[in-house]
Amino acid sequence: LTPVGIIGTGKYVPERVLTNQDLEKMVDTNDEWISTRTGIKERRLASEHEASSDLAFQAAQVALEQAGITAEQLDLILVASITPDMAFPSTACILQDRLGAKKAAAFDLSAACSGFIYGLANASNFIAMGTYKYALVVGAECLSKITDYTDRNTCILFGDGAGAAVLGPVAEGRGFRSFELGADGSGGELLKIAGGGSRCPASPASLEQKQHYIYMAGKEVFKFAVKIMGSAAEEALNKAGISKSEIDLLVPHQANIRIIQAALNRLELPEDKCMINLQKYGNVSAASIPIALAEAVEEGRVKEGDCIVLVGFGGGLTWGASVLIW
Ligand code: ACO
Repeated sequence: LTPVGIIGTGKYVPERVLTNQDLEKMVDTNDEWISTRTGIKERRLASEHEASSDLAFQAAQVALEQAGITAEQLDLILVASITPDMAFPSTACILQDRLGAKKAAAFDLSAACSGFIYGLANASNFIAMGTYKYALVVGAECLSKITDYTDRNTCILFGDGAGAAVLGPVAEGRGFRSFELGADGSGGELLKIAGGGSRCPASPASLEQKQHYIYMAGKEVFKFAVKIMGSAAEEALNKAGISKSEIDLLVPHQANIRIIQAALNRLELPEDKCMINLQKYGNVSAASIPIALAEAVEEGRVKEGDCIVLVGFGGGLTWGASVLIW
């Protein structure tokens, strides 16, 4: 099998900032509650003209440039999102056209906040098998468009943005060492958008019942997340034959600082070995991990040969972790 790694990363977040102080004026909440319960201080919001493919396009261009390849060289484009531009065509096809990636196959992938890791696993297999050479994996979300800004339980958490990675062949000894993917569909009711699909098509009633907004049973999701982040990362490390003490940087899903701290405890890692940027962007679902990874690269926190662990969880319920040597 060909060794496969990430050869370029990029991120894009919209300009508009929504702070905790702004939210104080919208719902019955306060900066102290949000900061201590979640760690989030502000998040970015797309404009009414921006959709997920627009954010994905910006992030993808940065990643392609860093990888030193052109869009025409891409064989595959994979977009993970719970806020695609529309039901179909896929956001990946919209992005393919925008980039001019004429020879790339393109499809979307639905695994909520774990979507980016699911995407890496898919794309890397195509390259390892020799089917394709270069793939673009993007996590792109406009969660503000499916958030009920009268619901204080959810509106404080979410933001918009996109993160991208270009995958390609790398030197022996580098690249992905393992993936651990999982799902527990019995927890699907805990985190969902019920409306707009074939079970509950869009209708005046679905609008009135707010079924096009994110529903979340926060406490139950929290308990699941605390357990699964540590165990998924450990499982991926076991598969790779790498010990916890060898981790140079953990890049977790940026949902809640308390969930990240629980994972750090379980992995016996100090906070300085963890990329944390949720204070600036909130939870951006499938885009959280690639935005955090791209920002870690920008900040010079990732060096050749480093052991990087990516881990996330989300609706489905789903989870995913990966170990890679940079
Ligand atoms: N401001 C002030 N008070 C609030 C707010 C708020 N924004 N939100 C809730 N409260 C109140 C609640 O009403 C509750 O009051 P009560 O005790 O009188 O009923 C109290 O604060 C405590 O609420 P809890 O739900 O117990 O708070 P908790 O400590 O569990 O934190 C949170 C809530 C932050 C949502 C947490 O449960 C969490 O992070 N859950 C996981 C969320 C997550 O990661 N989701 C992933 C979704 S990603 C995706 O797939 C899109």
